[in-house]
Amino acid sequence: MTTITKVALAGAKGNLGEVVLDQLLKAGFQVTALTRQGSSQTFPSNVSVKAVDYSSLDSLVNALRGQDAVVATIASAALGQQLLLIEAAAKAGVKHFIPSEFGCDTLHERTSTLPGYKTKVDVLEYLKKTAAETGLTWTAVFNGPFLDWGLKVGFLLNVKERTVEYPDGGNNKFSTTTLESIGKAVAGVLKNPEQTKNRGVYVQDAAVSQRQLAEAVKKVVGADGWKETITSTQEIYQQGLEEAKKANPNPGIVFVTTLKPAIWGEGWGSQFEKLDNDLFGIKQLSDEEFQAAVASYVPK
Ligand SMILES: NC(=O)c1ccc[n+]([C@@H]2O[C@H](COP(=O)([O-])OP(=O)(O)OC[C@H]3O[C@@H](n4cnc5c(N)ncnc54)[C@H](OP(=O)(O)O)[C@@H]3O)[C@@H](O)[C@H]2O)c1
Repeated sequence: MTTITKVALAGAKGNLGEVVLDQLLKAGFQVTALTRQGSSQTFPSNVSVKAVDYSSLDSLVNALRGQDAVVATIASAALGQQLLLIEAAAKAGVKHFIPSEFGCDTLHERTSTLPGYKTKVDVLEYLKKTAAETGLTWTAVFNGPFLDWGLKVGFLLNVKERTVEYPDGGNNKFSTTTLESIGKAVAGVLKNPEQTKNRGVYVQDAAVSQRQLAEAVKKVVGADGWKETITSTQEIYQQGLEEAKKANPNPGIVFVTTLKPAIWGEGWGSQFEKLDNDLFGIKQLSDEEFQAAVASYVPK
């Protein structure tokens, strides 16, 4: 039976990484933070720290020797760095790899074709290939949009400016999860490597529509003065395809036109059908708990 004790976490001070780090420590793992050479991040004293050069196989192999697992919570802009990290993990004899996914289901047949997910899909394909050729195993964690972070930064809707978009009318439901639950899912994968190996795992705190989310926010901040727009995910999707075909596509446009259909459109697998919550002890929120959670995340 595989037992995982030592975990290397790449991107341990990021939006997600910091919370994953906290949950890994709470679950009793010995964590080594991989940080870029020259990065100014500081870490808790019970965390080992290794500065790495993500462009050097030797640097990564040296950092990963003796580790049981690698968790990557690397920034969206640097996802391609995981190719060498995966190669290094296999070479260093690491048992398990969790790539920097943590969003919509890029194993979904249709969603995987969205231009903005190309790097995530390429990384996952390379991880599968490496796993087939070596002893490395993998798990991809899918959680939909971050609920707390998405409200805080105005990504799901903009509370400060009171703007909300209702793609396709805003009634399709999507899975959404807080950073803390995602951290628990990562720790849960590493506690259950056999049950979770070589597949995607799916978690959610709730499945809601954009209209339900907006209603919950309005109960907290008031319903007056909102600017509401109805958009078409089909048009957004087409716009993304056109942008991606250009010689120098605008990465911001490609990203946004990928996220909107993937989260709010119908037929993109945005409400997960099968959940792994029970395996990780993640309880879904009741309507009342969801309302209370939204109230605590909305910027005041
Ligand atoms: N579902 C959602 O709503 C949602 C929202 C946001 C993000 N995500 C996903 O979650 C994952 C983590 O995203 P995040 O927002 O937490 O990441 P982030 O905060 O932007 O960055 C995480 C860390 O990546 C490390 N890093 C390594 N190479 C880098 C480079 N070349 N440039 C910049 N940073 C680099 C940095 O750590 P060091 O300085 O220590 O090296 C940084 O702190 C990504 O896969 C992202 O797509 C999902």
